[in-house]
Amino acid sequence: MSEEKHIPVLFEETLAVLAPERGGSFLDCTFGGGGHSRAILERGAAAGVSLSAMDRDPAALPRAEKFAESFGDRFHFYGFCFSRLDEVKEAPFDGILMDIGVSSFQLDDESRGFSFRKEAFADMRMDTRSGIPAAEFLETASREELVEAIRDFGEEPRWRSVVDAIIAARGTGKLSMTTELAALIESKIGKRPGVKIHPATRSFQGIRIAVNNELGELKSALPKAFSALKVGGVLAVISFHSLEDRIVKRFFNEVCGRPVDRFDSRLQDERICRAELITHKTLRPSESEIAANPRSRSSRLRALKKI
Ligand SMILES: C[S@@+](CC[C@H](N)C(=O)[O-])C[C@H]1O[C@@H](n2cnc3c(N)ncnc32)[C@H](O)[C@@H]1O
Repeated sequence: MSEEKHIPVLFEETLAVLAPERGGSFLDCTFGGGGHSRAILERGAAAGVSLSAMDRDPAALPRAEKFAESFGDRFHFYGFCFSRLDEVKEAPFDGILMDIGVSSFQLDDESRGFSFRKEAFADMRMDTRSGIPAAEFLETASREELVEAIRDFGEEPRWRSVVDAIIAARGTGKLSMTTELAALIESKIGKRPGVKIHPATRSFQGIRIAVNNELGELKSALPKAFSALKVGGVLAVISFHSLEDRIVKRFFNEVCGRPVDRFDSRLQDERICRAELITHKTLRPSESEIAANPRSRSSRLRALKKI
């Protein structure tokens, strides 16, 4: 197990919109290393803030147990997916945070199979108690499911070659280990001139998103999060992927009574305004944050207030 830490992204920006110093009850749907949760509890301590947190990764539980020791009954933890947010008993909340994606704990733990740089069984599940590992997904998925993972979720421009290579490698054992899988992808698509990232980066991202049903989780959780907000409560979502951000943007537009996209032909009075945007454009990390934490590079924050 790696000793790496997770550096919370868009940290001050997120705390500014959630404003825990004003007091109230909060929900962190993506506890991870607890960086955002800790700050909410500490900055809201004088105002008696309480916080419920969720994480689908069983490895988050020992970190949550330490929190329970420090913060007592101001802290509650739920070890399941945020699509089950409606089961959290402490609702409604003054602020809800979703910082979606994977944590540095997960990326840096060699045994989890998220990284192509470290040899491991290609598992890539955030919740190792359910679903199927990536290695099994690659052996059994339909061509359409592989195309969705590599082309749509991974945004890999040479997705056809990657999908063909995966299908051709079935039954050979080459899809089981991260480094072999990465070598297979690299051997088919090579490095693109001028592109710094490893040739397997996008495919690994797409496979991870598919294996964890990350977009389905987000679509299911957003309306539940909105229902779990008090009037005046704030929903803040940090995403790392353009497809995630599109889902968040559509949902925010919908509840703010705005056209969800340019094809939305509903009249103004057919759209119900139940929230107002706090961030009119996404908030992005500063140059100094990116320099200090390169993993923050693609993060973006959107926030709204329920009215
Ligand atoms: C980017 S990290 C969050 C880091 C956290 N904000 C911090 O400061 O340490 C995302 C976390 O959310 C969890 N996660 C991702 N999708 C989830 C889901 N659908 N349900 C519950 N937890 C999820 C992951 O297991 C991971 O620990």
